[in-house]
Amino acid sequence: MGRHVWVCLGASCRRSGSPEVFKQLEDALAAEAVVAVTRYLCFGACAVSPNVVVMPERLWYSYVFPEYAAPVAEAIRQGHELPGLAQHVPPMIRDEIFHKLAQDGA
Ligand code: FES
Repeated sequence: MGRHVWVCLGASCRRSGSPEVFKQLEDALAAEAVVAVTRYLCFGACAVSPNVVVMPERLWYSYVFPEYAAPVAEAIRQGHELPGLAQHVPPMIRDEIFHKLAQDGA
């Protein structure tokens, strides 16, 4: 199964720089054949934007400002977690989005 990186491009995340994050992740992970980088429109966690979700690992990174895109890309590439940017979203929201993305085959 391939891996999927979802970058929120909803209004709040956009204001916090997510279009730049999207571009940086897309460029950094372009050589990874099994990683797709895709736009998402609002995970419902706007207070901790910009948000990035990695499936099927069920990793959720918040406050991914453009300056953090490179370390996030490296963590995704190496398959490890970045604890400082994780765990900022209430479990209820997290689980709902993970469930939805898993159902959609992400
Ligand atoms: S705009 Fe990104 S979580 Fe709502």
